[in-house]
Amino acid sequence: MNASQLIVALDLRGKQDALTLVERLKPAGLKHVKVGMSLFYEAGIGLIEELKAQDLDVFVDLKLHDIPNTVERTVDVLIQGGASFLNVHCLGGFDMMQRASEQAQKSSDALGIPPVHVIGVTILTSHQPQALAVDLQTQVPLKDMVLHLAKQAHQAGLHGVVCSPEEASLLKTALGEDFLKVTPGIRPENYGKSDDQARILTPKQALTQGATHLVVGRPIYESPEPEVVFQSILASIAH
Ligand code: C5P
Repeated sequence: MNASQLIVALDLRGKQDALTLVERLKPAGLKHVKVGMSLFYEAGIGLIEELKAQDLDVFVDLKLHDIPNTVERTVDVLIQGGASFLNVHCLGGFDMMQRASEQAQKSSDALGIPPVHVIGVTILTSHQPQALAVDLQTQVPLKDMVLHLAKQAHQAGLHGVVCSPEEASLLKTALGEDFLKVTPGIRPENYGKSDDQARILTPKQALTQGATHLVVGRPIYESPEPEVVFQSILASIAH
């Protein structure tokens, strides 16, 4: 496990707070950050450019879900802005996923950079199985739906999916080790609470299950000593 597989979610209220956290974590070995919707809408593409200029990988977590043409253009804009990871909803359809992945390859080639990773979001972990049956009127069990959408993402050329740590092992068996499994819901061993995450695993457990990238937010940014927590997570997965 290297430092770029540990992604720190910058879920802070403003650009300045996000940059201050980055400044504290960089000497501890920070390589990869995630910018979610609220920070992106507030700070814009300029923040992505700024983070990229600091030599960080930036996962732009906007969970794109629109018609193929719109998603394709957005993928290009985000890659021009410096994204190295981005994601789309698998429920946006096979054609949309395929066009997103093809555009990512084209935009990366045009910039002469390694291919930017496009990751699929299968079913949001906030959905309860019964909500799937009622809201989406589908009788397919949640696990089967996640697996089906991940297979579609794989076939459409996406590089991986966001999944819960428990789903990682199922997806590893079905789609192999190279298909990326990006997992939130990570809590360090001595953290003592799960916040609002329903299912949590420690960093080490998640990797054992087959996760290739870990996303960690609150345990790091809510700590009075974020660099200490960051370093101890890195140390816990170094071997
Ligand atoms: O603070 P915490 O470590 O729970 O942060 C997890 C991050 O992963 C947040 O940015 C959250 O939006 C994101 N995420 C998640 N569950 C998903 C998809 C994304 O927690 N299914």
